[in-house]
Amino acid sequence: MKVEIQKIVYPGKSFASQNGKIIFTNEGLPGEIAEISPIRERKNYIEAQTLSISNESGKRVKPLCSHYKTCSSYQYIDYAYQLELKKLQIEEIFKHTVKKELTGFEIKPSGKIWEYRNKLRLSLLWKNNNAVLAYHAPETHDEFVPIDECYLASKNMNNLFSSLLKIINTNRFTFIEEIEIKENSNGSLLAVIYGKTPDCGGITRTFPDEITGKFDLSGIIYIGEKNRREKIIYGKNYLEEKISGKVFRIGAQSFFQINISTLELLIKDMDEMIKTRNFKIAADLYCGIGTFGIIFADKAQKMLGVELLEENTSFLKENIALNKINNYSFKKGPSERLISEIFTEKIKTLIVDPPRKGIGENVCKELLKAGPEHIFYVSCDPITLARDLKMLLQKYDLAKVYGYDFYPHTPHIEILTILDKK
Ligand SMILES: C[S@@+](CC[C@H](N)C(=O)[O-])C[C@H]1O[C@@H](n2cnc3c(N)ncnc32)[C@H](O)[C@@H]1O
Repeated sequence: MKVEIQKIVYPGKSFASQNGKIIFTNEGLPGEIAEISPIRERKNYIEAQTLSISNESGKRVKPLCSHYKTCSSYQYIDYAYQLELKKLQIEEIFKHTVKKELTGFEIKPSGKIWEYRNKLRLSLLWKNNNAVLAYHAPETHDEFVPIDECYLASKNMNNLFSSLLKIINTNRFTFIEEIEIKENSNGSLLAVIYGKTPDCGGITRTFPDEITGKFDLSGIIYIGEKNRREKIIYGKNYLEEKISGKVFRIGAQSFFQINISTLELLIKDMDEMIKTRNFKIAADLYCGIGTFGIIFADKAQKMLGVELLEENTSFLKENIALNKINNYSFKKGPSERLISEIFTEKIKTLIVDPPRKGIGENVCKELLKAGPEHIFYVSCDPITLARDLKMLLQKYDLAKVYGYDFYPHTPHIEILTILDKK
């Protein structure tokens, strides 16, 4: 069946319609005619796969990676046009869900459009005792796509992946299932090896012997599948990164932002907005290892953090001490439960940076009840952001919406929204 692509909708589906039925397919730019094959027919729409394009748009470019459809499906789109498409998607979501027309809205480009990722996790696909590196295909349990190189990560990271793979194959370390590599802005690396046995056997000697001289390694960590306990094979159990003059220790299993040059743009915008707002008592919900709270602690009399996971709070504690921050205290647990407790303090500005599922109805209700003067909402999913804003705008004005391209060549969009109490 042939259809004309009308637009690209979040999260990156090409949209067409035929005989009153909506069609979402995986590739195709506005104005292009796509030959598609339906995969699933739902009540209101059809999910399809693009087989070929008959009149290519001038906005197409040659993708760098052969496997781009698995991990960075916008690689075939000219970079400036990727930003334009993301801007249109956000404007549409705000118009339809939040009932707000955005004016002067833009997506700020990433500082680097290739080699921007500071973390990459790849699976090992084993066949006849020989492993290849592979991406775990999104939204699947057991589909893997073999890869040679990832252009979203640095050459340094790619080289370490290759070296580790060579050692793993030479020594038949068949218990290893995944490798994650993290890199800081100076090129130091942390390698995290995930295996299926608590015992990490021969890698204790082989990895350090064969790798340490060739790379600037902060550490090598082994994590057996069952007991997610970390075993240090070499060096330290963290990597250090410097942002806005503050030092952060990032653990093997800690959350950390992926694209530092673009994160710095967001921090600069936050800083500007804080200057004109009451920041005396501030809180950072979903604070991870403390990125925002620690960077802005100097601007507050008191800073409070809330974070769920031990792998983040253990480093949050270290980061507070390392940066000699005396006004930061934190609670460990779910924001949904702790939100009413933290509002026993008279919080004026609240930063929230939740995972994709957003802050949700209960946290929104508590915020409407407690009524901090300002809310800075950092979101990696505009759909859940729009849902939450619909509730929050009962008592808040939308002061500013910023967009950032943290993930070039992928459909992901990062948004910072500033809300002021009416
Ligand atoms: C998008 S990350 C943001 C982390 C931090 N703001 C940063 O920039 O590094 C979301 C964080 O929320 C934490 N988290 C997830 N669910 C949570 C919950 N229900 N309550 C509190 N924290 C949660 C995750 O562990 C993660 O550290």
